[in-house]
Amino acid sequence: MIVMGIETSCDETAAAIVKDTDKIFSNVILTQIPYHRRFGGVVPEIASRRHLEAINSVIDEAVFKSGFEMSHIDRFAVTVGPGLVGSLIVGIVAARTLGKIYKKPVFGVNHILSHLAVNFLFDEISPPYLGLVASGGHCDLIHAKTHNDFEVLSKTRDDAPGETFDKIAKMLGLPYPGGAEIEKIAKRGNPDSVKFPVPKFKDGSDDFSFSGIKTFVKNRIGETPKDKIPDLLASFQKAVAKIFADRIMNAVKKTNCIRVILAGGVISNNFIVSFLSEECAKNSVQLFWPRPEFCTDNAAMTACRGFLQESSLKLIPQPDLKI
Ligand SMILES: Nc1ncnc2c1ncn2[C@@H]1O[C@H](COP(=O)(O)OP(=O)(O)OP(=O)(O)O)[C@@H](O)[C@H]1O
Ligand SMILES: [Mg+2]
Repeated sequence: MIVMGIETSCDETAAAIVKDTDKIFSNVILTQIPYHRRFGGVVPEIASRRHLEAINSVIDEAVFKSGFEMSHIDRFAVTVGPGLVGSLIVGIVAARTLGKIYKKPVFGVNHILSHLAVNFLFDEISPPYLGLVASGGHCDLIHAKTHNDFEVLSKTRDDAPGETFDKIAKMLGLPYPGGAEIEKIAKRGNPDSVKFPVPKFKDGSDDFSFSGIKTFVKNRIGETPKDKIPDLLASFQKAVAKIFADRIMNAVKKTNCIRVILAGGVISNNFIVSFLSEECAKNSVQLFWPRPEFCTDNAAMTACRGFLQESSLKLIPQPDLKI
């Protein structure tokens, strides 16, 4: 089945044409980062206006690059949430319009499940699996029994991991988005030099929390000499990786599922992925993760999720859509 994915949940306008979970024919991503950078984060009003300006040309380019004609597309898949309402609506209106013109079904898909789905385009993976999405707005650990039967095992109770990287970058005067900037500096540091607090909940929950380690970094920045900042950041990355590893291993024990897939922008972080692959190897857990360019938002993942999904979610923008 040939699926066109359309993704406008945040600050990337993206369209892609994908066959089943087998082949990506085109994958066009127009990022708005330069427009948001001077504000230190995404400005929703600017995001929706930029999507509106870009959506038609991004879709045209995806069709052109794929070598297909619009009439060859069997299904349109579009992100309905979670995301920014004004941004989501641009993609949804575009997909609904194309569906009407070409008389093809339009599938509304969940953005978090799309992040996970990108893994199926590159590796032979089948459910059941555990999926960790560590992105700019979410940290969800999911147990998938099938491609359409999911249980959310834990979520963040405060900041998302990408948000934590971005906020720490801002404290250091680094540009938005801060994840890659922090990784670059942390490469020069020793990850075992600063001891970080370990977040635990009194109720014994396996939920995630990143605000404690963010505040810890904030308090340490002032008293850390400039040449020791790489050590602080390298230790911060290790603290994040340890939280992920701890929750993944607890979930493996709880579910007996030994196949784990990673997704979301924070998974572009080479240190975090290496740490998790070592931990998984020690515990005989299979681990899969996408290449960095498929960790952040793209529409190939939306198309893949649209193919796997049994039925469409409601085609209305859903900012806080639950899985
Ligand atoms: N190398 C890296 N190390 C750590 N974090 C990174 C790295 N590269 C990108 N990030 C972070 O990933 C986030 C963006 O990821 P992504 O595009 O998956 O999030 P989003 O789409 O904005 O959020 P969501 O999917 O939750 O709506 C940013 O917070 C960014 O700082
Ligand atoms: Mg995303």
